[in-house]
Amino acid sequence: MCGIVGYTGPREAYPIIIKGLKRLEYRGYDSTGVALQNGGLKVYKKKGKVAELEDSIVGKDLHSNVGIGHTRWATHGEPSDRNAHPHQSSSGRLAMIHNGIIENYNQLKKELINKGYTFSSDTDTEVLLNFIEEIKKNNNCSLEEAVRVALKRVTGAYVILLLDSEDPETIIAARKGSPLVIGVGKGEHFLGSDASPMLEYTKEVVYVNDYELAIVKPDELILKNLGNEKITPYVQKLDIELAAIEKGGYEHFMLKEIFEQPQTIYDCLRGRLDATEGTITMSGIQQYAEQIMNANRIVMVACGTSWHAGLIAEYIFEELCRINVEVEYASEFRYRNPVINKGDVIIAISQSGETADTLVAIENAKAKGAIILGVVNVVGSSIARMSHAGAYTHAGPEIGVASTKAFTAQLAVLTMIALKIGYIKGTIPHKRYMHLLKELQEVPEKVAWTLKHSDNIRALAEKYKDARDFLYLGRGYNFPVALEGALKLKEISYIHAEGYPAAEMKHGPIALVDENLPVVFVATKDSYHEKVISNMQEIKARKGKVISVITEGDDASTALSEDVMIVPEADEILAPMLSAIPLQLLAYYIGVVKGCDVDKPRNLAKSVTVE
Ligand code: F6R
Repeated sequence: MCGIVGYTGPREAYPIIIKGLKRLEYRGYDSTGVALQNGGLKVYKKKGKVAELEDSIVGKDLHSNVGIGHTRWATHGEPSDRNAHPHQSSSGRLAMIHNGIIENYNQLKKELINKGYTFSSDTDTEVLLNFIEEIKKNNNCSLEEAVRVALKRVTGAYVILLLDSEDPETIIAARKGSPLVIGVGKGEHFLGSDASPMLEYTKEVVYVNDYELAIVKPDELILKNLGNEKITPYVQKLDIELAAIEKGGYEHFMLKEIFEQPQTIYDCLRGRLDATEGTITMSGIQQYAEQIMNANRIVMVACGTSWHAGLIAEYIFEELCRINVEVEYASEFRYRNPVINKGDVIIAISQSGETADTLVAIENAKAKGAIILGVVNVVGSSIARMSHAGAYTHAGPEIGVASTKAFTAQLAVLTMIALKIGYIKGTIPHKRYMHLLKELQEVPEKVAWTLKHSDNIRALAEKYKDARDFLYLGRGYNFPVALEGALKLKEISYIHAEGYPAAEMKHGPIALVDENLPVVFVATKDSYHEKVISNMQEIKARKGKVISVITEGDDASTALSEDVMIVPEADEILAPMLSAIPLQLLAYYIGVVKGCDVDKPRNLAKSVTVE
């Protein structure tokens, strides 16, 4: 989320920064900005992509040898010119860009407001910048010292780059939890969220670690920890091509995004879930907790993969909150003249926040008095703005057209909402609530484990790539996972696939089964497991090829399966976040071995803004 670039040296900084930002646009493109040292600070910023900023400042004097640039994926504050980075401090002396989230920014903001500060944006970045300026003023210290003191007060994640108009050759940088690379040239330094902005100038880079602070001048790089002790920079030689680094070394964005899931789910839970205290902090949901709790029904409205997340949420909400839930295809719901009563709660689920059918469906429902909650990935998107409240999924920009990390982040958010409401309502016993919170916190680790144990899936793709059809089966929480597995395979590899509730197979689809049909069972250990084993027997008896997603150590399923993909043990409510992973990988590898363009499958678009 957010791309950052910096340069200090003898070259013209602006073209280096603009080119670097274009390479980092995969990280977000809500707004763009640059700050240049040019006889004082010159800041240019604009809502929209890098090219839009470029067009808007044609003809300006952009000469400078030192500058910083930012491409934003909005978190605090909608995408707009005024929320775009760089931000300037109250005095105008400092300019800063930031990637990350300052979790305690509200507290810091209150302190600054009490001291008379005013703010011109909604961002946590402007708060941190003024906090740094205030410390510098109060302590009469160097900027470096002020940054160090300020960062000791900060909770959250950040990479920051700072310019000081009174020290025009220096860039101060610091990181915790977000990436920062410094390129070392001859009499010049480059900074970036990854190495792509500097690749044609230098292959020598320093990866800055958490809690380190860098003072970067053209011919000097000083690295320190927050205790003001010097650290010797460890210079590494890059051996990578430009194209590869744009996808973080992965062959495709889809694969990168699948592998990002331990981090994206973690990001989604971070600052919200506290398993020790037993709390879930979601201010938007809190605001409407009473209405949700007392709703006659909740309607989940979504399309495609997001609709599958809604189906899983139906099981979770009914179990934990004892509220009647319906799940609707937005495209049907919007035209069906559905009965909507005042106080019905609609949860709109959308990665892009721009899906036209979902948007119009909630618009109609809102007009009839429903409460609209958005579970959306793209901050400031239309669905997010149309909703009364909601919770962002914080999965970062999803570039691969097939949704992967957004799906698991949607499940994480929907689970947190259900837990929060169920607990307030008293429909989840305390012990179970605390147990689920603890297990939910462990999900990122378990997803990482699943990815580590997925080496065999490429070979499975080779083995099954020529199948004409696939059947995906699951029960309970894993039934929608079967639907999602089938959808992933269809869109990526163009192989026909059907998802079914495993028991429903007897009512028709079983006629398809013969020795040529791969049947993928989503068969993790849960309360339906024994019944799923019986369904496997039925397929095996008809010579179907059983491939199963199983819980590690499940010998009974292994014995019935031709091939297995394993996930670690988890509560059945949380299992879909794990069982979806091998199915994403299976679809991905089958697409790859069949030579399909997995990042841009034919006929599809990332954001469906037409009905
Ligand atoms: C499938 C996929 C689509 C989307 C659907 C809804 O991999 O990506 O099915 O899930 O178009 O999109 P959003 O979530 O942006 O509303």
